[in-house]
Amino acid sequence: MNIKKAAADYPIQKVLAERWSPYGFEDRAVSEADLRSLFEAARWAASSYNEQPWNYLVATRENPQEFKRLLLCLVEANQAWAKAAPVLVLGVVRLRFAKNNQDNRAAVHDLGLAAGNLVVEATARGLSVHQMIGILPDKAREVYQIPEHFEAWTAMAIGYKADPAKLPDALKERDLAPRQRKPLSEFVFTGQWKKPSPLVLKRDT
Ligand SMILES: Cc1cc2nc3c(=O)[nH]c(=O)nc-3n(C[C@H](O)[C@H](O)[C@H](O)COP(=O)(O)O)c2cc1C
Repeated sequence: MNIKKAAADYPIQKVLAERWSPYGFEDRAVSEADLRSLFEAARWAASSYNEQPWNYLVATRENPQEFKRLLLCLVEANQAWAKAAPVLVLGVVRLRFAKNNQDNRAAVHDLGLAAGNLVVEATARGLSVHQMIGILPDKAREVYQIPEHFEAWTAMAIGYKADPAKLPDALKERDLAPRQRKPLSEFVFTGQWKKPSPLVLKRDT
């Protein structure tokens, strides 16, 4: 039995149910072809005004120097486990529209949508992605000379999830923990804030 598979109350696609964020990664490289497809999936995400405000810096363990530079842009708590992943990616968002330099209020939303596409593509390929907000944006700006109005926002560790049984205790515990979610009635409302929508109080037969 796959203990990490979503215990969904209503049917969802297999690829969504099977996605989760591991702390342990196998010592196995990800092919360049797979990585290209992950970024291709991100490329085809929807975005406000088709602005495509996402940008990525990528480093693999095959290039230890580059990998270290990117690793050092994560907070220490994330470095501790992410260093075992074969691939690290920094997500950098363009916060202003290219055409008129006005604030793009959808920019971070759209970076998230692109991440969603990338994660689904990765899961379908047997890969796992662990996203991170725990990064050091100022460090990233300095290391990669990220220009004004662009900001490193999130990172991703990508690879093949490890067998939890083979992990050190602290990581094993995290990767064996059951996955928790709020019920739909706590966030899908109709008519009034906090009033659960009748739609989500029904069971499917
Ligand atoms: C935008 C974003 C930022 C996250 N930041 C971190 C992080 O800095 N460190 C970490 O260990 N996990 C991080 N996570 C992973 C979440 O804790 C994880 O997705 C959540 O607990 C749900 O677990 P699941 O992905 O296995 O379903 C982040 C996830 C997302 C989507």
